[in-house]
Amino acid sequence: MERVRGAGAVLAVLVVLGAPPAAGEELSGVFQLMTNHECHFINGTERVRFVERHIYNRKQFLHFDSDVGVYVGDTPRGETLARHFNSKREWLEYKRSAVDRYCRYNYKADAPFTVERRVPPSVSISLVPSSSQPGPGRLLCSGMDFYPAPVQVRWFQDGQELPEHVVATDVVPTGDWSCQVLVLLEIPPRRGVTYSCQVEHVSLEHPLSRHWEMPPDTVHSKILVGVGGFVLGLVFLALRLGFYLREKVKGGPQMEGVAPPLLSHSLWAPLAPSAPFLSPPFLSPQSS
Ligand SMILES: *[C@@H]1O[C@H](CO)[C@@H](O)[C@H](O)[C@H]1NC(C)=O
Repeated sequence: MERVRGAGAVLAVLVVLGAPPAAGEELSGVFQLMTNHECHFINGTERVRFVERHIYNRKQFLHFDSDVGVYVGDTPRGETLARHFNSKREWLEYKRSAVDRYCRYNYKADAPFTVERRVPPSVSISLVPSSSQPGPGRLLCSGMDFYPAPVQVRWFQDGQELPEHVVATDVVPTGDWSCQVLVLLEIPPRRGVTYSCQVEHVSLEHPLSRHWEMPPDTVHSKILVGVGGFVLGLVFLALRLGFYLREKVKGGPQMEGVAPPLLSHSLWAPLAPSAPFLSPPFLSPQSS
């Protein structure tokens, strides 16, 4: 398998506009003559291949491949040119030396900012609304602005890897020497579970992890506060009734020594006109 690890290509592009059209004549087109120099680095500079391509209007008509060692014509006109160049021994030797003179030489200068370029990803987790599924949405892990492209993103749930229900985009090159990847967890996140997105990349000494937990639900907590308040109110009411009953038993002569039956007259006494409803009964035990 041949891998192009970097192409130190020099483009010599000659664009010739068609001759100015005569009156009433359409522009006949754009004529483009291009020479392309490619360096194929296979396993670093271990094996290098140099390819020179001559192209006219997007059609290659002549090329030199260092693996072949001579010019080869791709069209009848190219074959004529190949015979011409191949007859020039010194020129051919010069092209054959391009793998060292041009490719390996430039590799040293170019590799630090190409082959050796390392930019770590910025990783974040976001909750995205799901258009097709109801519920809280889905968790999306974004890896941004990293280089080179190979990357591994994994989802964990309470430390346990989730190999299924994970869908990832291709690694997208942004065109400015950086890449992006998005990895979606297809199951809805649950409360009380910690979700982690772990990214491994050649720029990172250790895998990078981000964690996410469902934030407290505001509606839910409001209900809790309401219920809590209601219960507290009930407790106070019970205490107040308890006090009232005890004082009633102590202070009411007609009830002395007798445990007041539940819902007895005394319990409802404050409602009677003799005891004003608004006065707290336990503050005026002798009132009735
Ligand atoms: C790549 O090159 C190194 C030497 O630079 C060599 O040891 C290694 O075997 C090569 N790997 C392959 C896959 O050819």
